[in-house]
Amino acid sequence: MSEPKRIALYGGSFDPPHMGHRKLVQNLLRNFPDLQKICILPNRISPFKRQKYFLPIESFNLCKLNFEDLDPLKIEVLDNEILKESISYTYESILEVKSKYVGYELDLIIGDDQVADLIKWKNIEIILKEVSRFIVYRRKYAPFRPIPLPNQLLSQKFLIQENELWKESSSDWRAYPSNKDLYPKVLDEILSIIQNKYPLEIFEQWRKVIQKELTETRFNHSIRVSNLAEELSISYGYLFPQKAKIAGLVHDITKQKTVDFHLEKFNRYGFDGFKSIPKEAYHAFSGKFYLSELGMEDSEILNSIANHTLGNPQLTALDGIVYISDFLGSDYFYDHPSFDDSFSLAKKSLAYGMNLKAKNTIQDLIAKNKSIHENTLQIYNKTNKLLEEV
Ligand SMILES: [Fe+2]
Ligand SMILES: [Fe+2]
Repeated sequence: MSEPKRIALYGGSFDPPHMGHRKLVQNLLRNFPDLQKICILPNRISPFKRQKYFLPIESFNLCKLNFEDLDPLKIEVLDNEILKESISYTYESILEVKSKYVGYELDLIIGDDQVADLIKWKNIEIILKEVSRFIVYRRKYAPFRPIPLPNQLLSQKFLIQENELWKESSSDWRAYPSNKDLYPKVLDEILSIIQNKYPLEIFEQWRKVIQKELTETRFNHSIRVSNLAEELSISYGYLFPQKAKIAGLVHDITKQKTVDFHLEKFNRYGFDGFKSIPKEAYHAFSGKFYLSELGMEDSEILNSIANHTLGNPQLTALDGIVYISDFLGSDYFYDHPSFDDSFSLAKKSLAYGMNLKAKNTIQDLIAKNKSIHENTLQIYNKTNKLLEEV
């Protein structure tokens, strides 16, 4: 009897796909020469995750660039899930792939951290019936460390891979976009996606909006912050300076609105968090809501606006850039010539810049007998530690 024809299904967010994913597929090609096809399935909305950073069609194109050249005959990137509007479940994808490749045995590629909860996946009985082998790759447990397999699944065939753990992760990349974790073709495509989303005309549109919302002095501050955000991006190696330029421009959009305006936004969007923040920071949070009403869809920019006053210990690169630029572009900073050295140091180091703003905010609040928000203290402590380690 001849060997069955085999196909492997590898689904995921791929938001974006990176070198770790690529290494996994290289391993599959090397270790499973019996696979006739490896189907890569970027999902639209995962049952486990939030809204994605890249649009479905962008993820699809990025996956083609990340994987197809490894073996164009064997690798196929599927568009099944990106065409759906609703949550995608693995059992549905399995059935769709099996109906496309009739007569093939199907292997499912999963991470070691997914094994324990596999039994809870929707319609697991269909998955267990249709999947021939589970190929488990390591992303949590180091090679040769036992991976706990649930009792109910022991009868299933699990093929544990002894791959090295890779350091790349999509969520780290989203927080600190850099080129080192990406396949060069993927990087080029991402740069072109972002470049096309933020051409100069978009900046000009927002500039007109901001000019109407703010007094001349506040508008001038916003332009300074915008230019600084672009400059710091280039200096820190943040890949999307044009995004930072827009974030800096719009950061104070609701700075001159009334308290009632802010409260109306908090009420409308069910934001209870305002009770624990000082009134001076209301504009950062209402700004996020107001900007999304005006058509700003980029969640990275929106979050950087919310975080620009109090900061947040988990700041992303863009959050940090806007946080620092706001300080370096403030009248307070200009009125203190003693800051001259700090300016050039802040331009070189994100941690230094964040520390500088947090420290000055703390000193200023103490001088005014005001309370210090815990986010500011946490940023100060965290960046102090980082700077001590250098
Ligand atoms: Fe502000
Ligand atoms: Fe500001």
